[in-house]
Amino acid sequence: MSDNDSTLAQFDVAGAERLEKIYLTPDVVRQREQIFQLLDVKPGMKALDIGCGPGLTSLALAQAVGNDVGNAGHVDAIDIAPPMLQLAARRCSAQPQVTFHQADVLQLPFETAAFDVALATQVYEYVADIDAALQELVRVMKPGAQVLLVDTDWESCVWACRDEARMRRMMQGWGQHIPHPQLPRTLVQRMQRAGLVDVQVHTIPLLNMEYSTDTFSGGMMGFIASFVSGLPDYGPQLVADWQADVTSMAQAGGYFFSLNRYVFVARKP
Ligand SMILES: C[S@@+](CC[C@H](N)C(=O)[O-])C[C@H]1O[C@@H](n2cnc3c(N)ncnc32)[C@H](O)[C@@H]1O
Repeated sequence: MSDNDSTLAQFDVAGAERLEKIYLTPDVVRQREQIFQLLDVKPGMKALDIGCGPGLTSLALAQAVGNDVGNAGHVDAIDIAPPMLQLAARRCSAQPQVTFHQADVLQLPFETAAFDVALATQVYEYVADIDAALQELVRVMKPGAQVLLVDTDWESCVWACRDEARMRRMMQGWGQHIPHPQLPRTLVQRMQRAGLVDVQVHTIPLLNMEYSTDTFSGGMMGFIASFVSGLPDYGPQLVADWQADVTSMAQAGGYFFSLNRYVFVARKP
């Protein structure tokens, strides 16, 4: 299975809706607000949302670039997965300043030097040939434009449980959902090699001290379980035992989850 086939299988209709629900939890709403504070987006700008998913970032970008008469602000949003694009188009149906495209990050359907600002949250870790994808991103940016990337290193995950060996095994399985589960640690060099400058790095921790399905970790538990139970040598029993272990920590008052998001902000010279 190619990486794009694996992405499309993860983001079928059910997978896209599950991710949308997680991305609407207060944890991820707050994370999006923190990310937007680092983004220099103004009315009238041409913005690009790469791997827009359910369109939550596209909507925020659309509101920031505006659609006043005489204001040429516009958002182009791309994604490879049709179910994601359907959710995104529905979310932004009242925003005429957004256009959605089904496209691969390796071949952006835009002219050279078209955008003032671009953002890709949790996307490049899904792309095997990141270096080619970053070069393609730099191509479509105007000189001086801002680029903001967000990715996760799943080795930054701390999740309280009783059976640590099973937790490690589960995380190894989950690491297979993307080609680059530890992308942040090499992303500065990759961005610089692609020609970006002034790269700044920020961390945004996600912290849950209680178990609830309306949190990032509560939602991700189902996502991880669904992916890992389909892997050879794992199977539903191991996954069910892992879920029971982690949720039982809550009954004992010891639920603990934390994970770092890494935000990279840079500029095209
Ligand atoms: C974890 S979701 C993040 C969605 C969105 N950026 C957000 O933060 O709300 C990853 C998204 O990247 C998209 N994606 C993965 N590989 C891609 C590729 N090669 N080209 C375009 N989109 C891709 C997926 O379809 C999915 O919608």
